[in-house]
Amino acid sequence: MSNTPEETAPYGGGQTPSTEPAPTRIKRIRTHHLRELKQRGELFSMLTSYDQLTAQIFDEAGIEVLLVGDSASNNVLGNATSLPITVDEMLPLTRAVSRSVSRALVVGDLPFGSYQASPEQGYLTAARFMKEGGAHCVKLEGGVEMVPQIERMTRGGIPVMGHIGFTPQSEHALGGYRVQGRGAAADRVLRDAEAVQEAGAFAVVMEMVPGDVAAEVTAKLEIPTIGIGAGNQCDGQVLVWQDAFGLRTGRMPRFVKQYADLRSVLLDAARAFDAEVKDGSFPAAEHTF
Ligand code: KIV
Repeated sequence: MSNTPEETAPYGGGQTPSTEPAPTRIKRIRTHHLRELKQRGELFSMLTSYDQLTAQIFDEAGIEVLLVGDSASNNVLGNATSLPITVDEMLPLTRAVSRSVSRALVVGDLPFGSYQASPEQGYLTAARFMKEGGAHCVKLEGGVEMVPQIERMTRGGIPVMGHIGFTPQSEHALGGYRVQGRGAAADRVLRDAEAVQEAGAFAVVMEMVPGDVAAEVTAKLEIPTIGIGAGNQCDGQVLVWQDAFGLRTGRMPRFVKQYADLRSVLLDAARAFDAEVKDGSFPAAEHTF
C-alpha cells in the first residue's frame, strides 16, 4: 500500500508509545495544535520556505510549520547576513508561501529594525505581515526586552512566536555567532523563555543553546520550544532548507544535518543542458513544433 500523507499516522514520532487511539490528521495547523502536540509528547517540524514551490513540497511532506525567515536575506537576496532585508522585501515572499500551503502554519519573520523601536512599530509591522503577507502569525527575536512588543501584538490579535538564545539580528551586539546560555548564562535563557511565554507567545525558537539548558527550558514551559542547535529535547526542530537539503554548501554550523545534495543535482543538470545546447542535441525533434 502506498504511504501517502493521508494514510500515514502523522505524529508517530513521540518519545513514548501510547495506547491512546492515533489522533486524526490535523487538516490545518493552528497555533493551538502545537501546544496540543507538546502536551501529547509528539514532536513536530519546521522548515524555512520563501517561495511557492518549496512551500508546496514541504506542506505535502507534512512539515507542520513553514517559516518565511529573514534568512531569505542571505539565502535568496544575496546578502551576507539577515540584517539588510526589509519588510517590503519580505512581504512578497511571505505572500508566495501563504498562498501555496493548504495545511502548514505560516510564520512571517519580522526583520531587523521593524519592531524593536516600540510596541506600536512592532504591531504595525506585524499587521502588514498578516494583511499583506497572509502570514498566520509572526516571529520576533529577543526575550525579556521584547515583552511589551509581544503583549501588544497578542492583545491586537496577532499570534507571536519568540526567538531566544542566539538571535542573528543581534549578531553584532552578541559579539558574533556564539552559543548562548553556557554556565551561569543559562539563567538568562530561562528568564527569556519564561518572559516570552508570560507575554503571550504561543511558541519559542531556541537557537544555539546547550542541549541540557534547552531541555530544562522545554520541561518548564507550557508553550512548545523549537530548537535549532539546541539538542533533541525541544518539542520541535527547525532548519534553513537550503542548509538541510544541500543547496548551500561550504562551512555549516554543527547543528545542520544535510539530508540531500541539491547543489550537485542542479549543477549536473545545468551542465547537461549547457552541453546539449552547445552540441546541438537539444532541442530534439520531440521538443520541436
Ligand atoms: O530566519 C530564519 O531562518 C530563522 C531560523 C534560523 C529560525 O530565524
